[in-house]
Amino acid sequence: MKGIILAGGTGTRLHPATLVVNKQLLPVYDKPMVYYPLSTLMLAGIREILIVSSPDCLPHYRTLFGDGSGLGLSITYAEQPRPEGLPQAFTIGRDWLAGAPAMLVLGDNIFFGNGLGPMLRRAVASVEAGGGATVFSYRVEDPRRYGVIAFDDQGRAVSIEEKPERPRSSYAITGLYLFDGTVCDHAATLTPSPRGELEITDLARRYMDAGTLHVEAMGRGFAWLDTGTHDSLLEAAEFVRTIQHRQGIQIACLEEIAYLQGFISREQAEARGRALAKTAYGRAILTAIEDTPAPLPLGERRKGDRRQG
Ligand code: TTP
Repeated sequence: MKGIILAGGTGTRLHPATLVVNKQLLPVYDKPMVYYPLSTLMLAGIREILIVSSPDCLPHYRTLFGDGSGLGLSITYAEQPRPEGLPQAFTIGRDWLAGAPAMLVLGDNIFFGNGLGPMLRRAVASVEAGGGATVFSYRVEDPRRYGVIAFDDQGRAVSIEEKPERPRSSYAITGLYLFDGTVCDHAATLTPSPRGELEITDLARRYMDAGTLHVEAMGRGFAWLDTGTHDSLLEAAEFVRTIQHRQGIQIACLEEIAYLQGFISREQAEARGRALAKTAYGRAILTAIEDTPAPLPLGERRKGDRRQG
């Protein structure tokens, strides 16, 4: 399974903050927004990652992450000339994916909760073994702002609608999707919706109609935050600050996750932690090493990654 982060967009709802800075580079409390979706892919055990952004902004991501080796990842970059819809991830990423299944995460989506890592890894294993697609449903207060999924009495998905005026349920689809290796063929045949974009809900509906769409419920124990407006961005920052302060843990500390997942060595993690030791972020890396001193053979997953998910 390979991972794609969509970190383009126009960020019009965050103007003027995003007039010259790409939304996903804005901080959510103490780290760039893009750290959060990247942490989601890493918790899923994914190490080959494509970051898609606008031609203007892509160089900043390259500066931030390089080739990804500092995190035990392989990160590639691709331009999206214009933000014409989420399924473009699969036309832009087609050659890079080379038929592999993919997990797509939106650059402005934050996931946090106990058991997130194991849940994601189960979803990855299921699509790798059996194909199809998996989406995650989440109960929301105002479903009209989201892609909405409705179910029959047996719990089977029966409809998916983008930003419906009259939602058929209170369940939104989050910005995290798993697709099998046929996704690029499906994406290539989508046509733009009345609002002029290719829609991810149209892509998911292809799988639903074929009977191969799995829906995982993210229940009460999970936080799903999007950060597309000034208020939601501030609320997300407050959430991250509250959890981090109260529990003395970090949300989306990439080096900590990389170390606990066995992506990087103790030495690599330690060097990075020392370089950032003036921050709670850096200290969290050093604490992870103290708490879990036995180095893992690189690439071997540490059981139960205790702090993250
Ligand atoms: P949106 O929130 O739909 O769009 P946006 O980020 O351009 O913001 P606004 O609505 O305020 O103008 O995008 C969701 C996420 O997907 C966000 O992280 C940006 C990303 N995205 C792309 O990278 N390419 C695209 O073509 C689209 C539509 C979104």
